[in-house]
Amino acid sequence: MYTYFHGQGSDLNQSNHLGSRLSFRCGVTMPNRFMLAPMTNCQSFKDGSLSEAEYLWLVKRAIGHFGMVMTCAAHVQTIGQGFPGQLGIYSDALLDGHRRLAGGIREHGSVAVIQLHHAGRRALVDAIEGVPVCPSRDESTGARALTLSEIDSLCADFVKAALRAQSAGYDGVEIHGAHDYLLCQFLSAKYNHRTDEFGGSVTNRMRLISNILDGIRQVCGSQFLLGLRLSPEKYGIELSESIEVFRRLAETQTLDFLDVSLWDYKKKSDAQPDDERGLLDVFSLLERGQTKLTVAGKIQTASDVADVVARGVDFVGVGRAGILHHDFPALVMTDPNFRPRALPVSRDVLAREGVSPVFADYLTRWPGFVAD
Ligand SMILES: Cc1cc2nc3c(=O)[nH]c(=O)nc-3n(C[C@H](O)[C@H](O)[C@H](O)COP(=O)(O)O)c2cc1C
Repeated sequence: MYTYFHGQGSDLNQSNHLGSRLSFRCGVTMPNRFMLAPMTNCQSFKDGSLSEAEYLWLVKRAIGHFGMVMTCAAHVQTIGQGFPGQLGIYSDALLDGHRRLAGGIREHGSVAVIQLHHAGRRALVDAIEGVPVCPSRDESTGARALTLSEIDSLCADFVKAALRAQSAGYDGVEIHGAHDYLLCQFLSAKYNHRTDEFGGSVTNRMRLISNILDGIRQVCGSQFLLGLRLSPEKYGIELSESIEVFRRLAETQTLDFLDVSLWDYKKKSDAQPDDERGLLDVFSLLERGQTKLTVAGKIQTASDVADVVARGVDFVGVGRAGILHHDFPALVMTDPNFRPRALPVSRDVLAREGVSPVFADYLTRWPGFVAD
């Protein structure tokens, strides 16, 4: 187990207890160090409105002591829909469901955050009107390049979605800049071949994200929780570029937290395979001022959680283990030897954990997860 500490004013320097509160720069406080990672579950209605199943699955995680519950990726434009049954936040007509969801999560003491998303070239062609959009024309999907005025509208729609989330009662939003979706496509030299101010240098490729973050801060104010998810060293983005983006965003201190999606928290950097440090350490050791850091990726046991926190991460993002155990935080905080139930799990077990048959069907995409 690693023992480094980043020494940047993190609350962990005073107390590394997993049940200790964590206050963000905006003033929002998490009651502990556990976040339910954003997870698509395909349970919403066709128009993106909230279903009972999606409400129950998320509120059960707030009841299970996740200090922050993040929703699945929710699309900010209809052309950005990436999944069947995806939760939407592209219209005021969807507000009732969001009021109910944010209220249900907060009622149990959890911080309610919605992830704002646009699938870009990976949009679901059967669900959207027209062809998907991308920073530049993409042969493999047939996606077309966005015009400059469409980029302005896109930015405005992310900002409007954040305002909508705020009016619905969420504590904050996370911007999905990871996993090869639209904002990640802008960051990636593989998909972004633009020659205007949104392409070329790292400054230009991150301009859309910066504009969205500034726009949200302007309209939602300094007390609204604002996070950004990034994928390091993947999807055509080099590690040095991810570090540059992280550094610059930490410097501006616009964000309350950065969420580095690792898929495996023990992963080493492909660019630096001989480095004793893992990818997690590369980011946790970067200067970040008051910006908090979370990571996700195979954080499954109590010992994994302790390891991640000991390496200077402020709070952990838990995905699949949070599907298996709605009360994962409570289990980890009471048992230092906790390990999740073995895979595959039956649909009955999943149902008892608040996972509907529709979500269980979606989970069959993860080999070895659901017993069929
Ligand atoms: C069923 C499922 C759905 C996911 N949906 C999203 C999503 O909507 N947005 C996102 O940023 N990541 C998504 N992810 C990635 C998770 O947030 C998390 O980063 C990843 O699963 C690694 O964590 P884990 O090993 O604890 O599951 C999803 C993962 C799973 C398993």
